Order: sequence, then C-alpha cells, then structure tokens
Amino acid sequence: MAKVYIDGKAVALTAGQSVLNALLGAGYRIPYSCQSGVCQSCLMHCERGELPAQATAGLSASQREKKLFLSCSCFPDSDVSVTPYAVKEELLIAEVMAKRHLSPRVLELQLHCPLSYHAGQYINVWRDQTIARTYSIASIPSDPVLSLHIEVRAGGQFSAWADQQLAPGDRVNIQGPMGDCTYQAEPDQSLLLAGTGTGIAPLYGIAREALARAHTGPIHIVYCAREPEGLYWQQALTRLARHHSNVHLQCLVAKGGDSALWREANAYQTVRADYTPLNNYQIYLCGAPSFVAKMRKQCFLAGARPRSVFCDAFEPSR
Ligand code: FES
Repeated sequence: MAKVYIDGKAVALTAGQSVLNALLGAGYRIPYSCQSGVCQSCLMHCERGELPAQATAGLSASQREKKLFLSCSCFPDSDVSVTPYAVKEELLIAEVMAKRHLSPRVLELQLHCPLSYHAGQYINVWRDQTIARTYSIASIPSDPVLSLHIEVRAGGQFSAWADQQLAPGDRVNIQGPMGDCTYQAEPDQSLLLAGTGTGIAPLYGIAREALARAHTGPIHIVYCAREPEGLYWQQALTRLARHHSNVHLQCLVAKGGDSALWREANAYQTVRADYTPLNNYQIYLCGAPSFVAKMRKQCFLAGARPRSVFCDAFEPSR
C-alpha cells in the first residue's frame, strides 16, 4: 500500500483513500471544501513521487510547475512526499461591504476586492486558515461590489458564521476566480440557463453579462425549486425579463400548485418539451449535483453539443 510522507512521518493510504482523507484521518489539519476536485482549497505541494493525472486536473500551468496538486483527488499508486501549501500566496483580501437576507435561508454577501473575474465563475472564501467554502459569483465585473448568495445551514461551519458573526467592515481572504461556466456564445445564439437553489446566482450573472455584451438571441431562464419558498431570486429575474424582451423566464416548482409567478411542473419534462432540439443552444446548468447531472444527460439526448454545455454543480453550502 502506498504511503504519504509528511513532516518526516509516514501515513499509510488504505484502498481508495485520497491523500487528503489519509492526512485528515491521521490528525493533520488540511484545508478542504468540496472534496471533488473543484474548489482548490485542498492544494498541497508534492516534494517527491508520482502524481496521478487526476490530482492536477484543472490546475494552471504555473500551479503544475510549482508541483501543486489537489489532495482530495490524489490517489497515488506509489509513495509520495508532500508538504502543506501556503495557500495564502493565492489569496486576496476582500472587505465586506454589506450583507442581507434574500430569504430566510439565503444570505447575500457583498464584497469589495480587486478581483478580475468573468460572470459565472466561483471563488473560495476563507473563514480562517483551514475553513474555506466555495461560492459562485452572482454579480458581473462592472458591478461596484462582488455578490455571493450563501445558503445558510444551521451549524454550518462557514455559512452560520457568515450569517451570525461576519459584519460590514470585516475582511476575509478570497481565492480565485475559478471555473469556465461563463458567457461565451455567439451574439444571436439561443441560451438556456437552468438552475436550482443558489445555482441561480451564477446564471443571473451570465444572463446579465450576455445582455451587457449586447446579446440579441433568446435567453431562456428555467428557475426550479422544490417549493415556491425556494424561488428566492424570482423578483430580480422577473425584473430582468421585464426590461429585456429577449429574456424569457420560467419559474417551476415540484409542488405548490400554480400561480401568476410560478408553475407546478417537472423541470426535466418542461425542458424536453419546450427546448428540443438543443443542437444550436449554449447551455448553462447550475445547482445541486443530482439536478445538474440529470439535466446535462437530458440535454445531450436532446441534441446539445458537448462543448456547448457548461455546468456548475455544488452541494449546498455548509
Ligand atoms: S477540496 Fe479538493 S478541490 Fe475542493
């Protein structure tokens, strides 16, 4: 069985165990968040040994040159020698400008920071040296503040802290931006943006970015929730559709009946019925991993081209 060498000690990996989990199990405090190779909060430095390709997937050329790797996605076949990575080399300082509840469960955090990003990308926000969480950006670069939508979980190490303790004027470290779920369509192309929960945040940014770049093709937004209370960003989307004739909004709930603002309907059936074939669409899917995976598969079955489908799947914030 392969071993991980750190601080002059050896930690044995069990079958199918990542470097991150082996080190956490041995009592090391290694930062992490998504545990799925997306957020880069678990970066470590490899001193010696062979890294599997998956451990560096999605890293930049300069990160690879520095021999950095994602410890949550590293399942080595042979011994590796690693050191913690001072992620602070990649951090920027952001000031909390404002925070407000968008619904009882969703908090908006407005940050001021010198970050260059594209709408639809995501960042890590660090509470301290070991706790970071990943959030998609709801704003567009020309906005005066960077906006994040945070689902607040009772007892959540980050979200409950942000809700109860973080205050305007406080400073937090951020890392990023990351991700390629960004506007990159022809100006007259049809866009389909489908999302659940706080997955609507990056979709809202992408729609606004498209409009800011004079997109003339139809922009179809399908906003889904289990119940009407989950449609916390509906008013903002309705305003967007009211001001732009090429923005078409459907708000769907799994249960809760019909109203002037939403419809009780199955999201997958609605997309299949209303937008097939999808071969000329640019498609953006954001939200819970199960929703994104199922909708993605369905889009391919409806003719979507692989390079035209962009996904951003995250578990709700913790
Ligand atoms: S915890 Fe490893 S990439 Fe997110």
